[in-house]
Amino acid sequence: MAMSMTTSFRARILIIDDEKKFALACRTVLEEDGHHVRTCMRGCEGLELLRREDFDVVLLDLRLGDMDGMRILEESKSINHKAYIIIMTAFSTVPNAVKAMKMGAFDYLTKPFTDDQLMLAVARAVEKKKLVEENARLREELVDRYGFSNIVGENPKMLEVFKQIERVAPTDSSVLIYGEHGTGKELVARAIHAHSRRALEKFVAIDGSALSPTLLESELFGHVKGAFTGATQDKAGIFQIASKGTLFLDDIANLNLEIQGKLLRVLESREYKPVGASEFKTTEARVISATNKDLRSLTTQGQFREDLYYRINVFPIFLPPLRERQDDIPRLAYHFLHYFCRKMSKRIEGFTEDALEALVKHPWPGNVRQLKNAVERLVIISDDKPSVDLETLLDALETRRLRTSDGVPSTWAEMKSFKKTVLREHYERVERLFLLRALQDHGGNITKAAQAVGMQRSNFSALMKRYRIPAGTPQHSTV
Ligand SMILES: Nc1ncnc2c1ncn2[C@@H]1O[C@H](COP(=O)(O)OP(=O)(O)OP(=O)(O)O)[C@@H](O)[C@H]1O
Ligand SMILES: [Mg+2]
Repeated sequence: MAMSMTTSFRARILIIDDEKKFALACRTVLEEDGHHVRTCMRGCEGLELLRREDFDVVLLDLRLGDMDGMRILEESKSINHKAYIIIMTAFSTVPNAVKAMKMGAFDYLTKPFTDDQLMLAVARAVEKKKLVEENARLREELVDRYGFSNIVGENPKMLEVFKQIERVAPTDSSVLIYGEHGTGKELVARAIHAHSRRALEKFVAIDGSALSPTLLESELFGHVKGAFTGATQDKAGIFQIASKGTLFLDDIANLNLEIQGKLLRVLESREYKPVGASEFKTTEARVISATNKDLRSLTTQGQFREDLYYRINVFPIFLPPLRERQDDIPRLAYHFLHYFCRKMSKRIEGFTEDALEALVKHPWPGNVRQLKNAVERLVIISDDKPSVDLETLLDALETRRLRTSDGVPSTWAEMKSFKKTVLREHYERVERLFLLRALQDHGGNITKAAQAVGMQRSNFSALMKRYRIPAGTPQHSTV
């Protein structure tokens, strides 16, 4: 039967009705539809069952002998707020049913109803319940993924940041995240989104410095066909794409004054005009912006609109540079070490003491991103030693060779690591070409390529992975 297709889920249903025959008839229909059904004739009995067992749906007759239906409804809701209650009522008492809906009943059926009507009402309740539960589960998953668990930090300044995220996330406030490059601004913006009631909507990021002003404007607000050369059709801007979600505007100081004006208008009236359009559109997106500049001083220099500054600076969050949270460096280093070891199937337990000390003392001008990249390189270049030592570490720090102005290392340890790096870099370049050539000669067939050069296929493909060479025949230009 078509109706039962909608409820492959076996729901637990409680019928509370003092007309025994009627209750049993409903039970038969629903059991045939695959559900698990209990019936009872008295209100107090129904409440008792609700306390003892878990039900998905309750079918409740409003007029029972022993108790007022409304009271049962109220108590049912407080015993099991997750159960969906469907009221069954005679035609003459429809107004009561409407009142019941206001009190939180999900639906009502007017007696007499057909089997199909009954099954449909139950199916709708079950579907709705599943959807709500699925959403709650997704939300939890999102909070896990982009919650705080992936933002490593126990430094007091970071704990303060976490508190601020928690405080501002559920509101619709604009947020401005200050922080140097690589301090984790996007990570924080994502955490705010994940903790907000928009969590299941989109998170869209756009970088204010990556595009020319014309492109940026059309990227933000969209354009209509013919708005400029190359605009061959209407295009949605990210305010439209983000819809009810969150828009993350990175590097906001780089927007020109004209776009700043348009952005201000969106923030104030939620209205914007796609490039070349004559009508305004509206948006419900929440805006989170980020900058590594002192916006306040840019306003005094006339480079940033003061009104916009006040509009976006409602809730500022300051991410400290890594050098101001040195106590977090070991934690972050281990976090990335485990992450990359897992990714590259390597086994490195940790860092030697002097290596860790050097990590902590390093100035990290590129902040957490630089540390993350350095640890990735460390994992790549470490042969399966149990821990990363100082020498390997110096190898991995890209600023090493820039330490002296003429590029000549100043200590013997640095000299040794310099030698190792130069050799390694040269070796790796040739090794990569070697793989590419073998692949090219054999039409991208890994097995044949490996065989031809005298290597195990598994070793060959592990090396491909290490150099991030995709499967398939390499293009000439990459060789
Ligand atoms: N506290 C942290 N814990 C774990 N990972 C972090 C942390 N902070 C930053 N990262 C990681 O460092 C990298 C850079 O972070 P992110 O992109 O958020 O920085 P950003 O401030 O937006 O940088 P930019 O100014 O260059 O845009 C990302 O890979 C991010 O996952
Ligand atoms: Mg960023």
